[in-house]
Amino acid sequence: MCAIDAPTIIRTKRDGGVLSDAAIDWVIAGYTHGRVADEQMSALLMAIFLRGMTPAEIARWTAAMVASGERFDFTDLRRAGKPLALVDKHSTGGVGDKITIPLVPVVLACGGSVPQAAGRGLGHTGGTLDKLEAIPGFTAELSKDRIRQQLCDVGAAIFAAGDLAPADRKIYALRDVTATTESLPLIASSVMSKKLAEGAEALVLDVKVGRGAFLKVESESRELARTMVDLGNAYGVPTRALLTDMDRPLGRTVGNAVEVAESLEVLAGGGPPEVVELTVALAAEMLAAVGIDGVDPAETLRDGSAMDRFRDLVSAQGGDLSQPLPVGACSETVTASRGGVMGDIDAMGVAMAAWRLGAGRAHPGDPVQSGAGVRIHRTPGEPVAAGDPVFTLYTDTAERLPAALAELDDAWCVGDVAPALRPLIIDRIG
Ligand code: URA
Repeated sequence: MCAIDAPTIIRTKRDGGVLSDAAIDWVIAGYTHGRVADEQMSALLMAIFLRGMTPAEIARWTAAMVASGERFDFTDLRRAGKPLALVDKHSTGGVGDKITIPLVPVVLACGGSVPQAAGRGLGHTGGTLDKLEAIPGFTAELSKDRIRQQLCDVGAAIFAAGDLAPADRKIYALRDVTATTESLPLIASSVMSKKLAEGAEALVLDVKVGRGAFLKVESESRELARTMVDLGNAYGVPTRALLTDMDRPLGRTVGNAVEVAESLEVLAGGGPPEVVELTVALAAEMLAAVGIDGVDPAETLRDGSAMDRFRDLVSAQGGDLSQPLPVGACSETVTASRGGVMGDIDAMGVAMAAWRLGAGRAHPGDPVQSGAGVRIHRTPGEPVAAGDPVFTLYTDTAERLPAALAELDDAWCVGDVAPALRPLIIDRIG
């Protein structure tokens, strides 16, 4: 067998070649254990970004990332004497995407179980863990034994990926600082390596399309969805995907505690209709994927059972919902200078505003402000009068406000007619 070395692997991909299984296994294991340097992996990631990967390369890259760490197996667990219907969902990253927070308890209330490895935000998109950690006392750093116990006791656990797919953790951080995030093979393998390792027996993917998504063009997002669905199925984990709009923010809040507050409204039977619509649609897909039928996920929001399951989950992870959620100490409200109809809102502009306010981080490990974020008072198509509040910005750091306000400058408008909006759920794949 020929010797494998990093420069040869980089050169092969740089020149448009196909990496062998052995080369992929070697480079992922080598990078995980520090034998391949950051600069070498950076160069390889850029070559992959520019040249792409074949389906076989993506499958092998994903398998090598799964093999870089532990793979959980919860099939031996029982609740009330029965095996768990283990199902999870993952979103490819959106703006105002708080769906996991109401979704997990809805699925629980319908009889499903959810082992969810979740991430912290990096770049412009928020992370579920940063949002949940805005709840006083909530922890996502759970040991495997605690995850197993919690799955038996409450049916769900939302935890930091920890030892799952450690290669992805290192590569994801490197992609963020080498402008290689928006790559189909790298997104597909990153998402699926964590999800295939976490122990779910079926998966539902929420693949975002539009200005606030990593992949902006619908045809690319469709291909991403198809690639991930095929990867999951090939691994023996039945996988399906919804393609959903991310041109504008999801719901009326973008940030950390503000998104938890909006999720609590949804769990209390209210909240923005689009957040409810997506929660219910994803729950229906998850339940169908594990063969649970005859239940209406929307009913669990109306009858309070999803809220009860959320309280169980939060308290199992140390959170205290009787404490007030943090709110940034400084705020500023943007008002409309004319009346009319609220026009389109650019998800990326709002995401960048929330990030500048301190809701997100510039480097892995940076702290985030739980109380930072943006509240959207008028959504596209709603009537607006001159002087009406349109956005309120929250932060603990007053000096962050001017840059955040500047991000919003070109992100919205008031017009005379309602903007044409694409449907929230664009398609279903798988
Ligand atoms: N979510 C992930 O886990 N990885 C990506 O690359 C993008 C979104």
